[in-house]
Amino acid sequence: MNKRVAILISGSGSNMVALAQSMTGDHPGRACLVLSNDPQAGGLAKARAMGIPTAVVDHRPFKGDRAAFEAALMEPLLAAAPDLIALAGFMRVLTPDFVARFEGRMLNIHPSLLPKYKGLNTHARAIAAGDTEAGCTVHEVTAALDDGPILGQARVPVLPGDTAETLAARILPLEHQLYPAVLRRVLEGKRAPIALP
Ligand code: GRF
Repeated sequence: MNKRVAILISGSGSNMVALAQSMTGDHPGRACLVLSNDPQAGGLAKARAMGIPTAVVDHRPFKGDRAAFEAALMEPLLAAAPDLIALAGFMRVLTPDFVARFEGRMLNIHPSLLPKYKGLNTHARAIAAGDTEAGCTVHEVTAALDDGPILGQARVPVLPGDTAETLAARILPLEHQLYPAVLRRVLEGKRAPIALP
């Protein structure tokens, strides 16, 4: 019986596409929902083109009332009955109450080598710090932001002259390898962290 995977997005959804495309054949999971907080998210059209059910809960009408937004988010999410939730470019901070509902069953990809550079502007911060390498991390989502158990990391060199844009472009393809690899392992019951390359 396939596990049902809901994917939450806010933007282009390139990680969502990589995850959804990986869930075929003997893969233990299937995408059951793509849910966005932004009606304009480019990933919604990509999900529809792949035949994946979509839903939108625009966060803006809730004017910062996180609990009310999350209560609205719960409706399509619980209706899809996911076994696992993958945050993929989802840009809303979730409350501890929401996270607790899915503790151990919610993953996120973050564009830094955690625990370094939690939060935003990760690539610019790595460059400013003079780091010689950067990368991305897939981790379990816990109440603390970008802080849960690490399930996988991918590393790239920071090159002279790199900008946040050139570094992001070097890391993104690795995100698209790392996240599907970690997702499959988690669905197979394996949580020991992996490293790419
Ligand atoms: C990626 O850099 C990812 O690490 C971060 O959001 C960015 C956009 O991801 N979480 P996507 O193209 O929307 O999947």
